[in-house]
Amino acid sequence: MPMHRSIASIGVLSSLTAVLLGGAFLGPASARADAGDLNAEAALVRRGFEIAPVPLNLEGKNAALVGFGSYLVNAVADCNGCHSAGPPSEYMPGGNPYFKGSPPAVLNQSTYLGGGRNFGSLVPGTPAIVSRNLTPDRTGRPAGGLTFEDFLHVLRTGADLNHLHPNCSATVTSNCFPAAQPFNGDLLQIMPWPVFQQMSRRDARAIYEYLRAIPCIAGPATGVLHNDCF
Ligand code: HEC
Repeated sequence: MPMHRSIASIGVLSSLTAVLLGGAFLGPASARADAGDLNAEAALVRRGFEIAPVPLNLEGKNAALVGFGSYLVNAVADCNGCHSAGPPSEYMPGGNPYFKGSPPAVLNQSTYLGGGRNFGSLVPGTPAIVSRNLTPDRTGRPAGGLTFEDFLHVLRTGADLNHLHPNCSATVTSNCFPAAQPFNGDLLQIMPWPVFQQMSRRDARAIYEYLRAIPCIAGPATGVLHNDCF
């Protein structure tokens, strides 16, 4: 598995760096600290598996990346906070941590990362912004069959590869952003890509690997975002 190899080589590189830096400049204590960091990463992978709210299909996946990706998605980046169907169905009945009595959170698996949360219009007269389905489709690729390079491109640039809500023009007149508005209709709105674009390629790869491992949720029945599970 190429990913295993590159993880392994990152490990080797880090250890080499630790040995070189530790030995030459910083002394053995910092070398020990660096080795401790590698252990800390293994702990994050384990934590990721502990907190994944859905069964994971690890077949043909790099398990360490899936675990780390789960940690990023479920403990750090809150993808499901926007990519569920919305607050009323994000948690199971009795499992909404915002309710009185502070019930322990129990996520609703049937909406988990399935998209469809409607954020409404940014300003009146512009298209409603609705989160998208991030689960894998029949190809096994997440978010409507995105390859990793496309997924990375989306996180880095915010490009809307589905062109759902373009800028209005002489030929595009429906579900578009009027010229008087400052919004760039070719870019994803609300989606925090200006923050996510700062994450490392490897973190993005881990998130992608995790999204490949979660169960498919069938998307809207029709349209460009149609998502088939079989
Ligand atoms: C603050 C809310 C929010 C958060 C948090 C969020 N997203 Fe999004 N995301 C959106 C919205 C809304 C859209 C659709 C935007 C639009 O239509 O303009 C979107 C679109 C996307 C797309 C484009 C899908 C496609 O089919 O092209 C991807 C990929 C994506 N998000 C991945 C993620 C991942 C991965 C995370 C967590 C690391 C995440 N998002 C967290 C709101 C969010």
